[in-house]
Amino acid sequence: MSTHNSGRQKFTTRSFAEYKKAQKRIVMCTAYDYMQARIVEAAGADTILVGDSIGMTTLGYESTLPVTMDDMIRATTAVVKGAPNSYVIADMPFMSYQHSLEAGMRNAAALVAQAGAKAVKIEGASVEACMLAQSLTDAGIPVIGHLGLTPQSINALGGYRTQAKETADIAKLLLDAHAIMTAGVSAIVLECVPAEVGEELAEMHLLPIIGIGSGPHCDGEVQVFHDLLGLGGDFKPRHAKQYINAADILGEALSQYVQEVRAGTFPTKEQSTNIEPSIAEEATSAFMEYLIEDADLTNGDFEFLVDEVGERFLDSLEGESDQPGDYFGSGSGGSRAHLN
Ligand code: KIV
Repeated sequence: MSTHNSGRQKFTTRSFAEYKKAQKRIVMCTAYDYMQARIVEAAGADTILVGDSIGMTTLGYESTLPVTMDDMIRATTAVVKGAPNSYVIADMPFMSYQHSLEAGMRNAAALVAQAGAKAVKIEGASVEACMLAQSLTDAGIPVIGHLGLTPQSINALGGYRTQAKETADIAKLLLDAHAIMTAGVSAIVLECVPAEVGEELAEMHLLPIIGIGSGPHCDGEVQVFHDLLGLGGDFKPRHAKQYINAADILGEALSQYVQEVRAGTFPTKEQSTNIEPSIAEEATSAFMEYLIEDADLTNGDFEFLVDEVGERFLDSLEGESDQPGDYFGSGSGGSRAHLN
């Protein structure tokens, strides 16, 4: 895979502040598995977010709410393997931290220590969220905040719509951003607020505001892998730009595969391993002799076929083949195991 990452300085937690100071925009993209992570790293993104949007992109849910810690640990582990040189941030899923500070600390530690994330992301700026952000940063776990449209509160928000359009809501958002920044987050993801609000927030803070659907004046952008590549099915958010329709391209390639298998034009010699045809023919005729002599093929007596006939057949071949058991996988005992 070609890479656009060679020669780039490694992104670390300190880079958030450094990029902001140098007015360098931060590029973040989601990924949910090993191969996606390889693609995003090779494309040169600064950071990778293992979003709880995995619920919709990968697991077929209608929201992020059913996503579990197990889902996030498995996905984050795969992404870290696929993008070993990237700064990987893992979302804390719904109810993995809202319940208690202790649960939040334990779950964040699992995403970092077990799955290999460099930081975790939490939604909102409630007193509990701020206390968690502070405790985690004190414990050496970097935290990214997430304000604006916070999908884990979708039932309270009443739908996926632009937030902070009125004065009072904007004021509340400014307060929330101030609170969560004070708690020690390294950056804030700001989802679906008016561009003017994104600009105000970016101007106000010394740490980056990373937008999604929040206009062009944020300090960076995060987008969902599937939205950028046309893998999101019928769901096409207005804030995303689709750079390719990968679903169509992949679908066309796969339908070619289906047609070729049906037509017998794939696989060919090129995809095959070949031996001397006489070897296969000899084994087949020896086997057929045993079958005809000993097995009643009409009564479906598979145990007899595998244990008795199979064992004697393989015994008879010993000396002719290096590994007689290979014909059935692992000898008669192994073959029997297939049936149980
Ligand atoms: O889960 C996710 O993908 C996110 C981004 C939309 C920011 O939180």
